[in-house]
Amino acid sequence: MTILIEQPEFVEVEEEKVCSEENENELVLDGGFVVPTTNAFGHTFRDYDVNSERKDGVEEFYRIQHINQSVDFVKRMREEYGKLDKVEMSIWECCELLNEVVDESDPDLDEPQIEHLLQTAEAIRKDYPKEGWLHLTALIHDLGKVLHLPAFGELPQWAVVGDTFPVGCAFDESIVHHKHFQENPDYSNPAYNTKYGIYSEGCGLNNVLMSWGHDDYMFLVAKGNNSTLPSAGLFIIRYHSFYALHRAGAYKHLMNEDDIENLKWLKVFNKYDLYSKSKVRIDVEKVKPYYLSLIEKYFPAKLRW
Ligand SMILES: [Fe+2]
Ligand SMILES: [Fe+2]
Repeated sequence: MTILIEQPEFVEVEEEKVCSEENENELVLDGGFVVPTTNAFGHTFRDYDVNSERKDGVEEFYRIQHINQSVDFVKRMREEYGKLDKVEMSIWECCELLNEVVDESDPDLDEPQIEHLLQTAEAIRKDYPKEGWLHLTALIHDLGKVLHLPAFGELPQWAVVGDTFPVGCAFDESIVHHKHFQENPDYSNPAYNTKYGIYSEGCGLNNVLMSWGHDDYMFLVAKGNNSTLPSAGLFIIRYHSFYALHRAGAYKHLMNEDDIENLKWLKVFNKYDLYSKSKVRIDVEKVKPYYLSLIEKYFPAKLRW
């Protein structure tokens, strides 16, 4: 079976150049980042069909995820984790904690998470040196993966990582391993299986329930702790695994004008999130003071998680 994920060659870069001509003053969408062609295993990025040791594990992961992510499940998770009553710690403490987690759903990454966080942040910083909020967003975008840890309820992989998608309306065909949605209870529920489902035209992604995982959790943490990150930063955190939207262009009918603006930054970010998973070593102690200063600017010293 061929999965409908664009290969990350130069097609996307061309599209973004078209964008940047339209909005030259707002955004330089192509930040000059040099795109490597293979991941740490020597395969093309996000190639779910390639004969790698991880392939079967990744498909099985998505099978379980697609069966279990329902409206009911998402509502229960948002209520439980929205309480933010699990742990108190700073952003940097959480970066260190995340080192204990490995992402099984990701066919590209086989390194401690803190390396990935800093690789992404430093790659963006090089190309967009003035956007401190974006560097910090990159550093913290995956912190929600602490949901795997015992203190956070030790959620299974399918409830923490992997691509995200809306629930409460039809699952778009561009979602990886779409066929496995057939066993999701919402798939045959007429209230949830139409194009709009429980939503309406242009209602705004803010009103859409997304499958539960580290993205939405970190968004709840940032909001609940009164982060002053700009809305584009919060949008990146919340939707960075929503590949059906930012790669395939699905679900645009649910977006409002703010979403359209924020999506431009998400596309910038995502290029780095994906392609910086390479064997570039970062000297953590050397860059730490810079990131601590950003954390201080946008977050309280201790957060409720
Ligand atoms: Fe992520
Ligand atoms: Fe990431």
